[in-house]
Amino acid sequence: MTTITWYGHAVFTVTDGSTTLLIDPFLTGNPTAAVTADALEPTAILVTHGHSDHLGDAVEISRRTGAPIIAVYELALFLAGKGVTVTPGNIGGTVAAGDAVVKFVPAVHSSTIDEDGEFIPAGVPAGFVIRLSGKSIYFAGDTALFQDMELIGDEGLDVAILPIGGQYTMGAAEAVKAVAKLRPKVVIPGHFNTFPTIAADPVAFSREVSASTEARTVVLEPGQSTAI
Ligand code: NI
Ligand code: MN
Repeated sequence: MTTITWYGHAVFTVTDGSTTLLIDPFLTGNPTAAVTADALEPTAILVTHGHSDHLGDAVEISRRTGAPIIAVYELALFLAGKGVTVTPGNIGGTVAAGDAVVKFVPAVHSSTIDEDGEFIPAGVPAGFVIRLSGKSIYFAGDTALFQDMELIGDEGLDVAILPIGGQYTMGAAEAVKAVAKLRPKVVIPGHFNTFPTIAADPVAFSREVSASTEARTVVLEPGQSTAI
């Protein structure tokens, strides 16, 4: 069994009980965070891109737990310079993480690291397709809707975790179109209602998904889990 937990914003864990992947751990400074960074014990940390609302507490958690950070090459090497263990990859590539296999897939967005007000280029942004316990889970990261989501859908997705908050990513209407391309069994919305600028109604989103696709939407509250 695979369990997915949402901790608010784009922070998720995916676990089979022995391998626990922590994704985009923005907890400190996240007004909706359902946990503090020191309470998590991941076996690996996945970071989609360098923006502070995704990189978050990754370095601190990695230092404390020894969990490697999986990220696109340029971001991974920057983080290695902070003294943490990294597993670099790049779009189209696959890396192992305990029992899981993680593939880097495209995201239409940007990626910089904000360090003391200076913006450092961090390579390209990524999404991930995670295979764990026979399930495949697509984590879109920050992205616009793009046509090649159809290719990601060809992987045969059990779950798609999609941003619906708009402004910096696709909004709910585009996310419904993304579901049609991705063809997952289950959709979990994220990256909304953290801040007033990315307000969205996940129940309305769920209704639209049901009206136009076969997928079932699971709307989590921060701190809630679902088993797949
Ligand atoms: Ni971003
Ligand atoms: Mn973001």
